[in-house]
Amino acid sequence: MSRSVATLAVLAALALPGVAAAQNCEITVNSNDAMQYDVKEIVVDKSCPSYTVTLKHTGKLPVNAMGHNWVLTTASDYEATGRDGIAAGPANGYLKPNDKRIIAHTDMIGGGQETKVSFDPKLLKEGTDYTFFCSFPGHSSLMKGKLTLGG
Ligand code: CO
Repeated sequence: MSRSVATLAVLAALALPGVAAAQNCEITVNSNDAMQYDVKEIVVDKSCPSYTVTLKHTGKLPVNAMGHNWVLTTASDYEATGRDGIAAGPANGYLKPNDKRIIAHTDMIGGGQETKVSFDPKLLKEGTDYTFFCSFPGHSSLMKGKLTLGG
């Protein structure tokens, strides 16, 4: 009797995390005319079949003055990727075309606009630090955050 009760308790404990944790496979990141994201850290649930980032620009300034995008690289690749993006210029959305270091990125948007990107969490490794940032010249000093794989 007591043994089967204990067994049930163990089974319930094992089952609970999967039942209780609602899978969250998307996030909305707001950005503004003060060169800020409202999200500083993202943990991607590794059980998500796909992860979607929606980027909203709640400001009023146009894309050529206050453009924002959301670009994901490893933490170690982010600075060089940003430099090459600035060199690539506005015609390329400040991203080097076909840059293999870029895991995912949205379009560059201006005030009042919204864009999104989805990527496969299998592209990420557990224990690796990733950086998301805006590649518009001068923005990534403020507009960057940390992303990891978890769950
Ligand atoms: Co920006």
